[in-house]
Amino acid sequence: MKVTVVGAGAVGASCAEYIAIKNFASEVVLLDIKEGYAEGKAMDLMQTASLNGFDTKITGSTSDYSKTAGSDIAVITSGIPRKPGMTREELIGINAGIVKTVSSNLIEHSPNVILIVVSNPMDAMTYLVHKTTNLPKHKIIGMGGALDSARFKYRLAEAMEAPISDIDGMVIGGHSDKGMVPLISHATRNSIRVSEFLSEDRLNQVAEDTKVGGATLTKLLGTSAWYAPGAAVSGLVQAIACDQKKMFTCSIYLEGEYGLNDICIGVPVILGKNGIERIVDIPLSDAEKAKMQESAEGVTKTNSLLEL
Ligand code: 2OP
Repeated sequence: MKVTVVGAGAVGASCAEYIAIKNFASEVVLLDIKEGYAEGKAMDLMQTASLNGFDTKITGSTSDYSKTAGSDIAVITSGIPRKPGMTREELIGINAGIVKTVSSNLIEHSPNVILIVVSNPMDAMTYLVHKTTNLPKHKIIGMGGALDSARFKYRLAEAMEAPISDIDGMVIGGHSDKGMVPLISHATRNSIRVSEFLSEDRLNQVAEDTKVGGATLTKLLGTSAWYAPGAAVSGLVQAIACDQKKMFTCSIYLEGEYGLNDICIGVPVILGKNGIERIVDIPLSDAEKAKMQESAEGVTKTNSLLEL
């Protein structure tokens, strides 16, 4: 199993590290445009192999896509991250051009690749890849919901003073401060609804904290987060590489599911060796439906800024 990670910045490197530590891939290629940077990160990570007990071979390359040839899965993290006070949508101008070039280079060298898009604004970047490449829709996956759901579980556990392993929950919708839809009514602690443990006000606070999860970290760190994004990507890569048939929220191209068309937005999917094996189309309450609709309108507005 060969995995390429484009962009050796904090998110790309964390992602390569988590993939390697989980020891399921034979090879990870890290690629960056900055001379020697990916090579350096790859060498540093390889020097953790005997310490962390993995056999995955990590190599680095400066913009040489021939080194990525034959990749089964490729992750696109390239582009600029947001700075404090910026929205993900503001990155579209620079990142759209980068994502277009990167995806076309990847597909040229690995025509059967499954692409995972991380660059922001992620839903629009996933849509861009859908519109500008010939990859089938089950091979184009946007990473956002897996991260947002992990942040939701973190906030629920914090509010309930419960261990995270007790919590289950999911965030659908767009990967943006306003567009996320934490599904409170479906969230549970050991299969008991979270509303049994927390007041409506506290649950609304959990939802709000979840939605600005990335912005909160950007303010604290001065740039966007990397550990949880890297871990979320590695979870998606592992589910595909090991044909786990695991369920995550991912941004994918919809054709009628959730009443939406011609949009990439976060919904629950089953991931396996073919990428998206199935879209899980669950019934939403009227309030959740309205939030999903509003979220989709936001994503469509961002998509309209793309030059397709
Ligand atoms: C985040 O929410 C990177 O968009 C990503 O942290």
